[in-house]
Amino acid sequence: MKYENILFEIKNHIAIVTINRPDKLNALNGKTIDELDDVLNSIKNNSDIFVAILTGSGEKAFVAGADISELNKLDVLSAKEFSEKGNRVFRSIEILDKPVIAAVNGFALGGGCELALACHIRIASDNAKFGQPEVNLGIIPGYGGTQRLSRLVNNALALEMILTGDLVSAEEALKIGLINKIYPSTELLKKTIELADKICSKGQQAVRFALKAVKASDNMSLTEGLAYEASLFALVCGTEDFQEGTKAFLEKRKPDFKHR
Ligand code: COA
Repeated sequence: MKYENILFEIKNHIAIVTINRPDKLNALNGKTIDELDDVLNSIKNNSDIFVAILTGSGEKAFVAGADISELNKLDVLSAKEFSEKGNRVFRSIEILDKPVIAAVNGFALGGGCELALACHIRIASDNAKFGQPEVNLGIIPGYGGTQRLSRLVNNALALEMILTGDLVSAEEALKIGLINKIYPSTELLKKTIELADKICSKGQQAVRFALKAVKASDNMSLTEGLAYEASLFALVCGTEDFQEGTKAFLEKRKPDFKHR
């Protein structure tokens, strides 16, 4: 399917999804959210895709937020629908059984920061800037920012960002645990693809079980989480990849995982 505001390509088991409205700094309008929803469904249902990368078009922005020209028209009821829809789409990233990496190539503001927060791993360019500037518009984050930011960085830092709307540089974001790594902007996509390639080279059933187990820890007590881990550990030991991975180690060779 051809999209108006999104570029979607698949290469070597990696899906690259580029939000493509560079003249509006890739701001998320309703159409883009619908297209993202559709792309995420395609990724979920395509067994040839092992890892997805989300990025923005151009050199300036990952995503500069929800489209303010649409926000401006919301009333109470449509605002509830707007927020619920965005939350559903972003949640589908978080619960996808394939890793999603945000390659943050510039401004990640408001809905852009929230989009990055919904991804499993965040890699940023050295010119990236993160922020939840909604208070400047007289609103609060509506795509998960109030919930995910405080789960990722400490509560007081999340509140400082959300209450002041101040932007945080890539270095600061790295320091507070908001992102995993920083690269020069010219190398960002290449380095993110290298990371995705590395994940693709592992046993994919193990990758999916590991992702499931770690993400479950968001909603479980330690006791529940350990029980869940033991169940998934048992299941993964029933796979061919487990047989191959352990056998290859003992035979001092590289594992030949079946790619499926
Ligand atoms: N919604 C709609 N349009 C947006 C946008 C958004 N969130 N962010 C940027 N744009 C548009 C601008 O209106 C401008 O469009 P125009 O050329 O038709 O006037 C274009 O993108 C370029 O942005 P501009 O503001 O001229 O770039 P800048 O380099 O001066 O500033 C930002 C960059 C990111 C600091 C600034 O665009 C900004 O503050 N954006 C809004 C961020 C925000 O509040 N996001 C949260 C929304 S909930």
